[in-house]
Amino acid sequence: MTSNSCAVRKAVIPVAGLGTRFLPATKAMPKEMLPVVDKPAIQYVVEEAVGVGLNDILMITGRNKRALEDHFDRVPALEATLEAKGDITKLDAVQATSGLGDIHYVRQGDPKGLGHAVLRAKQHVGYEPFAVLLGDDLIDARDTLLSDMIEVQQKTGGSVVALIEVEPSQISSYGCADIEDIGEDGYVRIKQLVEKPAADEAPSNLAVIGRYVLHPAVFDVLEHTEPGRGGEIQLTDALQVLAAEEGEGRGVYGVVFRGRRYDTGTS
Ligand code: UTP
Repeated sequence: MTSNSCAVRKAVIPVAGLGTRFLPATKAMPKEMLPVVDKPAIQYVVEEAVGVGLNDILMITGRNKRALEDHFDRVPALEATLEAKGDITKLDAVQATSGLGDIHYVRQGDPKGLGHAVLRAKQHVGYEPFAVLLGDDLIDARDTLLSDMIEVQQKTGGSVVALIEVEPSQISSYGCADIEDIGEDGYVRIKQLVEKPAADEAPSNLAVIGRYVLHPAVFDVLEHTEPGRGGEIQLTDALQVLAAEEGEGRGVYGVVFRGRRYDTGTS
């Protein structure tokens, strides 16, 4: 079976980062558990994945991340108390989190970078395309970014990144995409990704955000990816290789997102 005919069924959510930007809030608590309105940030991300049919979810976790596993687990004593009190609204809210998809966990060990975290998913994912969602970006549930990206992956057989247009002065905070218009409606081809370029050297004002739909060829590339920026194994470096090569699972495409996004990654 080629990847083109292989549906996207699995989501990988890396949550093993140290979250240094939010210290001291994240000294003992994962940044993904920080509340956004009435839910921890991670719950929106899991709901987004499940909402497009990705019921098989793998979280790449690390030390201090046990609260994440607890959040998606049953709490029989709490449920019994709420039931006895007749607080059905809260009971529904508590039960909703444990009924979300089929969530698996694997530890990253050393947090050696996002690329290294994604590589830890290799065995669980196998040879099929998969989505990667980062908790730093929350996408409004009314927008269809992830399903649009899945469609592009299925059409192209390559890997797909999400892009947003930013003010030129902001591009130095992001990975930046050098793109080629290939005459397709809704997506472009990525020629090159440039990590955090100075504004006057940036090839565009298109920034990479935390949604990816990847061909499993990325795993083989990651296995040979040396530590890059910050001494970390960078997913961007592996995508760079896939963008430059031709053949099975090669080619990287970008979907420009113009919907509502909430960035929890900047303090
Ligand atoms: P970030 O670059 O935001 O790093 O990682 P971070 O450690 O979470 O946060 P700061 O910069 O220290 O504040 C982007 C995503 O990749 C995951 C993070 O959990 C986050 O979702 N990640 C990063 C890992 O899972 N493992 C790593 O080794 C690095």
